[in-house]
Amino acid sequence: MTECTFDYRGCNVFVAGGTSGINLGIARGFARAGASVAVLSRSREKVDSAVADLQQQGGRVLGYTADVRDGERLQEVFAAAHRELGSFDVLVSGAAGNFPTAANSMSSNAFKAVMDIDLLGTFNVLRYSYAYLRKPGACVINISAPQAFVPMEMQAHVCAAKAGVDMLTRTTALEWGPVGIRVNSLVPGPIAGTEGMKRLAPPGPAGAAMIADSVPLKRQGTTEDLAQAALFIASRAAGYINGVILPVDGGWSLGGAGEIGRSLAALAGQGVR
Ligand code: HXC
Ligand code: NAP
Repeated sequence: MTECTFDYRGCNVFVAGGTSGINLGIARGFARAGASVAVLSRSREKVDSAVADLQQQGGRVLGYTADVRDGERLQEVFAAAHRELGSFDVLVSGAAGNFPTAANSMSSNAFKAVMDIDLLGTFNVLRYSYAYLRKPGACVINISAPQAFVPMEMQAHVCAAKAGVDMLTRTTALEWGPVGIRVNSLVPGPIAGTEGMKRLAPPGPAGAAMIADSVPLKRQGTTEDLAQAALFIASRAAGYINGVILPVDGGWSLGGAGEIGRSLAALAGQGVR
């Protein structure tokens, strides 16, 4: 098969929540393709480590500490990145929180924590970066999850939050299309070695095998799978794709994804929180 190569030299890419896992993999993809990249997250240690990692690709890299729940701090960060880089060609919003808990034992604050990080956080990231997005031409990528449209046991908070994220994608695609900004969601499947899978997958090699078997393509995904999808969706090749919720999941959300919720519920029944 022909390798796809993308050229993002001269482009500025901001990845909110880009200091680990899938989002860092996406940031790496853009840095490798020649873009200047900025990332933000809460932990100074993670920001510094991600900046060092991304600098190995050879381009310009900026890192900021911020909590996506704090709109005022985001305004400062986006203004500072804009002063350094200029307008953003690509904005990725991927900060999220997850823990498995049954709805009937979840505290209001636990529900709110995930709603605030995933949904309000995505709103804040889009809202406060808007002034600095290239018009026309920018592409916004929200990182969703199969939970947005596949109901899962122990995931009421995440399902509600990510469904909201996808509706933000679709409403901002409507509102911002006229100024030449495209907004799409990428929906990762089960991505090996990530924090999300550490929290949700059944334990051990048997758990990993069960997850892989629940995917029609019979493997877990990689952060590189998401990086390639992000490079595509932000490219001219996808220039007429707007307001789309695109699973990058080997077909997992067609059926197998629900199994993870059933296994979480079974583990909870055995006393595992
Ligand atoms: C029940 C829990 C809990 C748990 C926290 N809470 N962990 N409830 N079970 N395991 C409750 C707390 O008791 C508290 O409620 C409320 O949630 C807020 O907790 P804090 O610790 O104060 O929140 P905060 O410091 O803001 O941390 C947010 C967090 C944390 C989500 C709880 O885990 C986090 O920062 N996560 C970021 C990394 C992450 O989750 N990555 C995975 C993303 S994967 P009370 O009532 O006690 O005050 C993903 C999708 C994967 O999103 C999809 C795979 C298919
Ligand atoms: P991860 O490594 O925990 O990544 C989350 C990132 O967001 C980190 O950089 C984290 O850094 C940052 N973050 C978390 N809360 C934040 C906050 N309040 N403010 C600012 N930054 C914050 O998780 P992951 O598993 O790779 O997941 C990444 C994305 O993919 C998420 O949107 C998730 O919902 C989605 N997803 C994952 C999977 C999977 O298989 N893992 C499947 C479907 C969807 P700090 O801790 O420093 O803040």
